[in-house]
Amino acid sequence: MREVTHEATGPVRLDESDVDPEYGDVAVCMCGLSDERPFCDGSHRVTEDEEEGVRYRYEDGDRKEIEEIRVRD
Ligand code: FES
Repeated sequence: MREVTHEATGPVRLDESDVDPEYGDVAVCMCGLSDERPFCDGSHRVTEDEEEGVRYRYEDGDRKEIEEIRVRD
């Protein structure tokens, strides 16, 4: 399980000058859900209907709203 607080729900597309010609169009994951980090694998699509101000936990393909984030000592 991984808990990350993000504002972004989609990828960052790199400028043409940043792209390695071997890989072509590359997007960097900003949602924290990609299995191909640091690259976007399309997993961000599950965040498209998130509501403003609501916190979510994504785990094993499921999404749950969470009340609070607890910090472990
Ligand atoms: S931005 Fe994270 S998977 Fe696309």
